[in-house]
Amino acid sequence: MGIRSFIRRKVAEKISGTADASNPVHDAPVRPLPTAPDPEGFVAVARVNDIRPNTGRTVSAHGLSIAVFQIEQRFYAIDDACTHEDAPLGEGDVRGTRVVCPYHDWVYDIPTGACLTDPTRPVGCFETKVDDDFVWVGKRTSDGTSLRGGDHADGLTTSEHAS
Ligand code: FES
Repeated sequence: MGIRSFIRRKVAEKISGTADASNPVHDAPVRPLPTAPDPEGFVAVARVNDIRPNTGRTVSAHGLSIAVFQIEQRFYAIDDACTHEDAPLGEGDVRGTRVVCPYHDWVYDIPTGACLTDPTRPVGCFETKVDDDFVWVGKRTSDGTSLRGGDHADGLTTSEHAS
């Protein structure tokens, strides 16, 4: 997609008021998320209907930004920050079990957190579960890297992205 396309899409959604129009939660009464962790330490991050199949969203849990995705009726959670330049992966395009970073197109395998663009740059993963029609995020199951930087994967140079 590239960062300019991403920004254009976000601005268009804001202007047209369609940013949340496709969210089914508007068709149903809204239940508040539980505010306390459950006995196993899972935190409720969304209603099941808030995250449509083959999409993701950025949520907050355990003091972190986490990207949660629904793929084939399962929910997955990974670190939200792209290991290239920290773009929100929860805003990326989901293609099968992969997410494409919205800024410069690095690709990640959602179930494992592996970075397919640069295998030295995985993101971490978290436990998830569905209970009482909520999506819950639990403990970290793998660590990502703290490394950042590297080549873009969308054909543009750093100076072109800075403009
Ligand atoms: S910030 Fe994700 S590819 Fe650049």
